[in-house]
Amino acid sequence: MELPFAEPYKIKMVETIRKSSRTEREAWIKEADYNLFNLKSERVFIDLLTDSGTGAMSDRQWSAMMEGDESYAGARSYYRLKETIEEVTGFPLFLPTHQGRAAENVLFSSLIKANDVLPGNAHFDTTKGHIEFRKAHAVDCTIAEAYDTTCESPFKGNFDLNKLEEVLKKYPKEQIPCIVVTITNNTAGGQPVSMENIKGVAALAQKYGIKILMDSARFAENAYFIKMREKGYAEKPIREIVRELFSYADFMTMSSKKDAIVNMGGFAAFRHREDWEKCQMYTIIYEGFITYGGMSGRDMNALAQGLMEGTEFDYLEARISQVAYLGQKLDEYGIPYQRPAGGHAIFVDAKKVLTQVPQEEFIAQTLGIELYVEAGIRGVEIGALLADRDPVTRENRYPALELLRLAIPRRVYTNNHIDYIAAALKNVYDRRQTITRGYVISKELPIMRHFTIQLAPAR
Ligand code: F0G
Repeated sequence: MELPFAEPYKIKMVETIRKSSRTEREAWIKEADYNLFNLKSERVFIDLLTDSGTGAMSDRQWSAMMEGDESYAGARSYYRLKETIEEVTGFPLFLPTHQGRAAENVLFSSLIKANDVLPGNAHFDTTKGHIEFRKAHAVDCTIAEAYDTTCESPFKGNFDLNKLEEVLKKYPKEQIPCIVVTITNNTAGGQPVSMENIKGVAALAQKYGIKILMDSARFAENAYFIKMREKGYAEKPIREIVRELFSYADFMTMSSKKDAIVNMGGFAAFRHREDWEKCQMYTIIYEGFITYGGMSGRDMNALAQGLMEGTEFDYLEARISQVAYLGQKLDEYGIPYQRPAGGHAIFVDAKKVLTQVPQEEFIAQTLGIELYVEAGIRGVEIGALLADRDPVTRENRYPALELLRLAIPRRVYTNNHIDYIAAALKNVYDRRQTITRGYVISKELPIMRHFTIQLAPAR
């Protein structure tokens, strides 16, 4: 008999989580003004708000923390991390930061000026935020298939190379500081970008003399998909694929809270010395001296170890199979989601589930609240609340898709938890026709409103 798949780790420490009653959850979500971000985490049974900083560190990462060197300058931990980043990514130079958006802040402070244009494959919110904050523009060049949740394309995170070339042709090269390649494409559903597509981007970048930035939060998951799905890569080790991916980039920004499996941390890495030197000043004013920039020595040690573990095939297979397993369960129950299953999350197609809720009443948010009340599971809305208002007209923007993202933390939950999540969603799905009412806004901030918004039941 063929042996079934099993995780390449065992559990050494556990954290208690508690179930609650529906009556309790109804009161708690009301108290939280129907905003899932406002819930105390103790009131959540399974937390799928994000896979960022929520992973379980290994015994080796914890022991590496004990060996952290907390010297202000030139710490051993800095050099250990520097060597590991070079070994894993090939980038010889780096600057530590406290998380991914801080790396964006440091790099973009030296790179972007007003009116610049940065094409990319669906920039992540904070990346877009940092671009727009500098009065520059993020232009989305993702393939159209990414916005059709039923399409089974293996590399749905890809660039539409024609769209990209149009942007590169339209603006002078002085106005395009770089192309932003996000691996995997979070906004499109944790969908990977193929090596062939990246080579295409690199060829255009070379033709027009433009640099490439890789937003690399989930680079190892992207490499795993390349190995499993792209011709010519099946026999290549993950780290070789990772090195090839980064060989096309001039710099990278990293949220270490994802694929490097730490609770906090980030960095920017550079191929060219002049770019690294230009960013040093911003690291010093925003983050800290260039050999710690926002991280303690012990955190740099845990990150170095995490980068090695996060690029092991067996670990990635367990990680991505667990997300795929949730997808298979939803298939069994006929629940629609962004297909195929992504690397870090399942994005439930809320518009297809709650067909009775009008879009002005926030469909994906309504589904998120229903799932919480049903079973104490917390997801996150990727829909009209997140899309915010048009800066000029102040009207709500309604995106093409209303998605409920269920992000799976790394090495945290078992497949029993996944069964529980799928069953809870099925219960909501079975009574979907009775859900006709959504929510209206009672209070909001002028930007990034979804984090703190207050809602009330509609009508
Ligand atoms: N880039 C991508 C692709 C991301 O997904 C994130 C964060 C960042 C950059 C910013 O990194 O949070 O360390 O500052 N994504 C999290 C999420 C928050 O839930 O998807 P950060």
